[in-house]
Amino acid sequence: MPDLAIQTSGLVKVFGETRAVDGLDLQVPAGAVYGVLGPNGAGKTTAVRMLATLLRPDGGEATVFGHDVVREADAVRSRVSLTGQYASVDEEMTGAENLILLARLLGHRKPAARERAAQLLEAFGLSEAAGRQVKTYSGGMRRRIDIAASILNTPELLFLDEPTTGLDPRSRNQVWDIVRIVVAHGTTVLLTTQYLEEADRLAGRIAVIDRGKVIAEGTPGELKSSVGAGAVHVRLRDAATRPDAERVLTEALDATVYLDADPVALTARITGNGREAAAAEQASRALARLAEAGIVVDDFSLGQPSLDEVFLALTDHPAAEEAAA
Ligand SMILES: Nc1ncnc2c1ncn2[C@@H]1O[C@H](COP(=O)(O)OP(=O)(O)OP(=O)(O)O)[C@@H](O)[C@H]1O
Ligand SMILES: [Mg+2]
Repeated sequence: MPDLAIQTSGLVKVFGETRAVDGLDLQVPAGAVYGVLGPNGAGKTTAVRMLATLLRPDGGEATVFGHDVVREADAVRSRVSLTGQYASVDEEMTGAENLILLARLLGHRKPAARERAAQLLEAFGLSEAAGRQVKTYSGGMRRRIDIAASILNTPELLFLDEPTTGLDPRSRNQVWDIVRIVVAHGTTVLLTTQYLEEADRLAGRIAVIDRGKVIAEGTPGELKSSVGAGAVHVRLRDAATRPDAERVLTEALDATVYLDADPVALTARITGNGREAAAAEQASRALARLAEAGIVVDDFSLGQPSLDEVFLALTDHPAAEEAAA
């Protein structure tokens, strides 16, 4: 039985008519990234706020490193740090000034505060921007300074609430690298996200939450084997070849092929039996068959299932409904 960083049982938070968190059961092992995957309104931020002692649960129990989040809130608070969905550094100050000020507030003397700030700015690729006001930072730089601010004192547990939402792929990669650095230094990370790919890249285990409850839990591999490994997207040179392409793909992949609204595009869902390598192999076989059949392909990609596809597979309703609920 590995050490648990977080354990919740039947955790509940109600806002008026909304059961934002509705009987949440989580077991988060220490020392790794744990992904909480869910659409808008699933209850991710509410759950994180209760675990970080910022919000009082209406029911159930939650412990962080064995300490109850209500009865032992101080013990929990001293061990955790939260980087919110909405960042909290001061826009008017420079990156360096923010970190130095926060380090001073945490009780570091001035030289130590400067040193820690410089260390983090360097590690997070922000040395050059250190002297610029945060309001001039790009979205990606902004997330990085925010994460830096939350680990000035290395927390035992770091909550990262949708750290990459709205970032471009390059900034997203930079944030992922930072998360890996943080975990390598011994911090447990609870990461909420709307992207399966992100949870897959970073997390050892993932909980999928829907309407305040866990609807699936496991390693990324286990999750993907239950929802399918992804989809092959093909764009043809000539729309007239689509019926042939549909037949070839159906045979090669032994999967259902969908005709997209775009007359030159097709999508085939593949299982890969939950293994990335098998999915890639299936996809390249499909591409070879199309070439053999003389069908010209302009564009071809193998993508992971989207959150919508995960939700369709697990709940028989798309994630988008949640936002409206
Ligand atoms: N302070 C509040 N007062 C009333 N309702 C709230 C409050 N906070 C959250 N809710 C509601 O609780 C539900 C869960 O919200 P929460 O912010 O936890 O979701 P989320 O998973 O973080 O979503 P997102 O991906 O959009 O950040 C939503 O229906 C939301 O409208
Ligand atoms: Mg949220």
